[in-house]
Amino acid sequence: MQSFEGKVAVVTGGGRGIGGSIAKALAARGAKVAVVSRSEASCGKTADEINAEFPGAAKAYALDVADHDAVAALGKEVVADFGGVNILVNNAGVTRDGLLMRMKEEDWMTVLDTNLKGAFNTVKAFMRPLMKAEDARIINIASVIGLIGNAGQANYAASKAGLIGFSKSVARELAGKKVTCNAIAPGFIRTDMTDALSDDVKAAILGKIPLGEFGEVEDISDMVVYLAGPAARYITGQVLAVDGGMTM
Ligand SMILES: NC(=O)c1ccc[n+]([C@@H]2O[C@H](COP(=O)([O-])OP(=O)(O)OC[C@H]3O[C@@H](n4cnc5c(N)ncnc54)[C@H](OP(=O)(O)O)[C@@H]3O)[C@@H](O)[C@H]2O)c1
Repeated sequence: MQSFEGKVAVVTGGGRGIGGSIAKALAARGAKVAVVSRSEASCGKTADEINAEFPGAAKAYALDVADHDAVAALGKEVVADFGGVNILVNNAGVTRDGLLMRMKEEDWMTVLDTNLKGAFNTVKAFMRPLMKAEDARIINIASVIGLIGNAGQANYAASKAGLIGFSKSVARELAGKKVTCNAIAPGFIRTDMTDALSDDVKAAILGKIPLGEFGEVEDISDMVVYLAGPAARYITGQVLAVDGGMTM
């Protein structure tokens, strides 16, 4: 099994769903994990579950990734707590779906601030320790919607397409320091986010997935483990779709 012994990972949106699976997968392989989410209850639960199995492997940090100053403070706190950072996973994300005719400015801003500015904030906060670390990794969780768009998700699509462009630019800027930066574009993965969709919408999506089933959170955390490990040392600036063939 891939070992992340001696490595420190920061996982935003680590309280639930895909981020919870990523935090647990990295901790199970020996990493110390800073679990970040909006609510203390949520990141605290993931950290408690990890610590129950791997004592001292996780610490919870509750904050809004859209808050630039709070994330800058997080950068200092995580380095003080764990001594450095090797892996940054930007996974925190939200949806505020609606057709453009009805979409409010607030729906646009919340999604862009969380999904896109949140990643800017964390990269700024952790850039120095990542550049100091050996073979550091930045992994951004985008979406197939950022590649193909979706009616009713203009804000979300823009945030995820922006995250992809951001990832490629970060990859170019940090390549000289051997920090890689890649994006994963999940398709439809079973989580609270997708459970909220109606049965009609789910059935329509299922019809567009060649492999004929929805993905599980482990499909994404397995890809994060791969990208964070040494086998992916020569991969940077890429978008890896994990989507059952939706976007082929
Ligand atoms: N599920 C899918 O099919 C799918 C497909 C493509 C891409 N994605 C992307 O994958 C990521 C995870 O999705 P998911 O389905 O696991 O979502 P989820 O179940 O709704 O969980 C989202 C996590 O992000 C955290 N979060 C949201 N806003 C935040 C903020 N402003 N500051 C800090 N943390 C915040 C939440 O914190 P709390 O727990 O405290 O609320 C939660 O832990 C998202 O970026 C999403 O866009 C998901």
